[in-house]
Amino acid sequence: MKTLDVRVWRGGADGRYQGFEVPREESQTVLDVVTHIQRKQEPTLAYRFACRVGMCGSCAMTVNGVARWTCRTHVDAVAPDGRLEIAPLRNLPVIRDLVTDMREFFDKWARAKGRFQGRRTRRDDFERVAPDSEARKQVDAAIECIGCAVCYSSCDVVAWNPDYLGPAALNRAWTLLRDVREAANPERLRAVAGDAGCHACHTHLSCTERCPKQISPTAGIAGLKRAAAAAALKGEL
Ligand code: SF4
Ligand code: SF4
Ligand code: FES
Repeated sequence: MKTLDVRVWRGGADGRYQGFEVPREESQTVLDVVTHIQRKQEPTLAYRFACRVGMCGSCAMTVNGVARWTCRTHVDAVAPDGRLEIAPLRNLPVIRDLVTDMREFFDKWARAKGRFQGRRTRRDDFERVAPDSEARKQVDAAIECIGCAVCYSSCDVVAWNPDYLGPAALNRAWTLLRDVREAANPERLRAVAGDAGCHACHTHLSCTERCPKQISPTAGIAGLKRAAAAAALKGEL
């Protein structure tokens, strides 16, 4: 039987890699490998997943040096030589093994005012945006983010400046900025135009290259920079 040579991060930030030999299987994903280790070899291994189909965003890890969704990453695509090194996401505190603490990631969504705030009350009917309208197209490019933090983990500016809001929160702010139903955009623009916001992005593009949903946070951040400059010229910032 063919096997994979797998090294998995164990412990907290000061942990170490532990080696495992895992049977090679057809159509095997990296999440299948981690699950095999946890179920058959090392039941104390901590990791996180839920949907297994690329919808929940909870299974992201660093695989052979690159942040990825493990449930949609086939071993064939990333380990042609049969070697896998699996670690927690970068740029987030490690709780244990492959599990990171996502609080600062989601706190930054809150800081970027990533919550939709419409004008209608709960007694009103839903405000609809027609699927084929220009208004809907404005948000389509960036709305499918599932909060997996692959982009955040791949961003060097986050590594240098832990205060930086990061690509996912800024992408979310951009999506809401273009939403015709949104009522809180002046505050949102002020929240993302500071030193730790859109102007800190160095346009390295790692977020855009790695996003498994083919979103371009870089393009959204460029849009925020333009919007912030226009608002500043009008004296609105
Ligand atoms: S922008 Fe892409 S990589 Fe970043 S959190 Fe959203 S889905 Fe994940
Ligand atoms: S484009 Fe900006 S947000 Fe994206 S990885 Fe580069 S510096 Fe980070
Ligand atoms: S387990 Fe849900 S995205 Fe991978």
